Amino acid sequence: MSSVKEEKKIKVIKNGPYMVTGNVPLAKEMITEDEKRYLLKWEKVSDYPEQETHSLCRCGESKNAPFCDGAHKRAACNMAETAEKATFQSKAEKVEGDDIILFDVPDLCASGHFCTRAGGAWDLVRERSDDPEKIRIAIKEASDCPSGRLVMMDKKTGQEIEPDFEPSISIAQDEVAGVSGPICVRGRIQIEGSDGTLYELRNRVALCRCGQSNSKPFCDGSHVAYKFHDKQ
Ligand code: FES
Repeated sequence: MSSVKEEKKIKVIKNGPYMVTGNVPLAKEMITEDEKRYLLKWEKVSDYPEQETHSLCRCGESKNAPFCDGAHKRAACNMAETAEKATFQSKAEKVEGDDIILFDVPDLCASGHFCTRAGGAWDLVRERSDDPEKIRIAIKEASDCPSGRLVMMDKKTGQEIEPDFEPSISIAQDEVAGVSGPICVRGRIQIEGSDGTLYELRNRVALCRCGQSNSKPFCDGSHVAYKFHDKQ
């Protein structure tokens, strides 16, 4: 019997985990400092074995993180989806430079901290957009942002400047803040709410896995104040 390949998708299960289908590559990555101790970067720690389907914990209580082990049945956190369904562009604040526009939706911040170096993406675009090196840094900062809070656009073409991601999922560990981070979804994987509603298809999305976000299923950076650590 031939096995049917499922669509790459993440389905939010009501009061339960994220059901991931379609053999999506899954890895663990570290947000870390560089050798100068101020530039942040992603560093792959390991790959998880390939699986056609798996379920990822979103309550923060699993002892087999990042996978669900059924602990959500006893979890105290409220797992209801509370995120606005409005599109990124309808909510975005705009910072304009000479040739570039930075779009920003602060509510989506996942506390990745990539955007703060070298004066910060906002000031680099606003004040240094005549300097190609500064703009290169600002674009890199926005591209590293796990949640897609920051998106750059080329003013001339009207095209978003996005990293070319294959569909994949990364489980973040934030070495700099000393906490376990969100589920970073890359490469425009469809996320479906528990009621069947489809969230906007985006190249970069950070999903809550500590159970504390006020914008579920998305990460709002609450894992930092909550000092979230994988329980395994
Ligand atoms: S969602 Fe199942 S253990 Fe957390």
